[in-house]
Amino acid sequence: MAVYSKAMLDSMKKVEANRDKNTPMDPKRMSAEEKDKLLETYHPDYIKSQFTNLKIGPNKGEKAPLELATILQANGRVKPEDVKLDRVDYDVDVLVIGGGGAGTSAALEANKAGAKVMMVTKLRHGDANTMMAEGGIQAADKPNDSPAQHFLDAYGGGHFAAKKELVAKLVTEAPEAIKWLNDLGVEFDKDKNGTMITTHGGGTSRKRMHAAKDYSGAEIMRTIRDEAQNQGIKMVEFTSAIEIILDETGKAAGAVLLNMETQEITIAKAKTVIIATGGAGRMHYQGFPTTNHYGATADGLVLAYRAGAKLLYQDTLQYHPTGVAFPEQIFGALVTEKVRSLGAKLVNVDGEVFMNPLETRDVAAASLIRECGDRKKGVPTQHGFGIWLDSPMIEKISGEGTIEKRIPAMMRMFAKYGIDIRKEPMLVYPTLHYQNGGIEIDTECMSSVQNLFVAGEAVGGIHGRNRLMGNSLLDIIVFGRDAGKAAAAAAKNTKIGKLSLEHVNKFSSERKAAGITGDEVSPMLLPTYTHGNPRFEAK
Ligand code: FUM
Repeated sequence: MAVYSKAMLDSMKKVEANRDKNTPMDPKRMSAEEKDKLLETYHPDYIKSQFTNLKIGPNKGEKAPLELATILQANGRVKPEDVKLDRVDYDVDVLVIGGGGAGTSAALEANKAGAKVMMVTKLRHGDANTMMAEGGIQAADKPNDSPAQHFLDAYGGGHFAAKKELVAKLVTEAPEAIKWLNDLGVEFDKDKNGTMITTHGGGTSRKRMHAAKDYSGAEIMRTIRDEAQNQGIKMVEFTSAIEIILDETGKAAGAVLLNMETQEITIAKAKTVIIATGGAGRMHYQGFPTTNHYGATADGLVLAYRAGAKLLYQDTLQYHPTGVAFPEQIFGALVTEKVRSLGAKLVNVDGEVFMNPLETRDVAAASLIRECGDRKKGVPTQHGFGIWLDSPMIEKISGEGTIEKRIPAMMRMFAKYGIDIRKEPMLVYPTLHYQNGGIEIDTECMSSVQNLFVAGEAVGGIHGRNRLMGNSLLDIIVFGRDAGKAAAAAAKNTKIGKLSLEHVNKFSSERKAAGITGDEVSPMLLPTYTHGNPRFEAK
């Protein structure tokens, strides 16, 4: 059971007293100037000391978070001379690295196109950020909406930094993505006439968030994983890719694999490779907790970087404004944005509303950090401070039963600790949620390395410098499927030359020449909680 402190209980009384006053109040969204100033002063992406310039590799000279720079420039896990590339264990057309939503969608389409497909994943099929996604998936498929409107929201929300052609693809293929999922059996929320129920998310100008209650990602993952299993797509679990193999002409041609249980090294040869390794929350940038699954350690970025692929916006991360700040046991877990889209407001220690609840995520996170920091209006917790997310307002606005019906998983998560979110507000604080940047791709989902495709959270450039809610579940489906189709088509015209890890030797030489001496190895594969992160260090 969670035990509130006296300070929390005193503050909660003020929240309750203000609830009626807060209901009609809807502070206006901030102006562009106000947002820029707020972000520059309070968003973690702007803390200069937390970044460094990369010394080697395709993005040499560019900014990256300290933790990412370390693993991007680290040694590989195996020495090329110890790897027997002539002993091929798997020989396929399309190798998909990653067992989440993007990888599975890619595998389904590549399989449909007739390619011999194999998936590898370091944990189990479905252990991925897709499974953790709660709020929903965007698509402009209602009469009052359009892909053009969706484009404007996504492009603007990303600070006009996204690659326009990728955003265009995202939004125009969105309605078909929803139809595909619906036809496969995803149980989207629908009204009694069978019309999909859609809501707002932060930064959306239309209600276009489709959801399966507040476990949308799990429902999508369940459906597509079943489909992949039913289609007999080969899946190798508990197996990590630790190096991309190129052929002598520089095309991606497979991967060196590591069995996570036996440590055995195997070789997968493939005509094309798709990286769908997901995000990086378990890097705990700047000591933040995370909403991400246990394996989110930026592996794909490392693999691609050593193979020579360019990254884009590797310096920008998303801090979800509402991670759990209390109780301790679920510190950092996701409190879906849907809670705010259903009417809950963010209020400070004095029960005052201080921002529009549907600002974009970067702005909302920075606003919470300011409220708890310089403005000294946070509620003290064991880890620092929190802000109330006044969930009882939902029932006030939309009627009793709304919480149980629309966000049942959230209700249960807090109920485990004796907190009834229908009656008590939740304490929240920003938590590391999403990797905005990643591997740069073209509209065919190919990286700057021939035949190395990328989909999902490992991609950079779709969302610019900030992603809107619901555009990630969307991008894993749109770009996952497209990567699968493109990789299968490319495989048809590909002849693989002699397999090589010479690029890894070259990277080591670059490292030496740049004077990088650390003995870290990458990809990281799993978080190391006893190393270098005081917040998670064993006491
Ligand atoms: O708040 C959420 O439910 C998260 C959704 C997302 O990141 O798209």
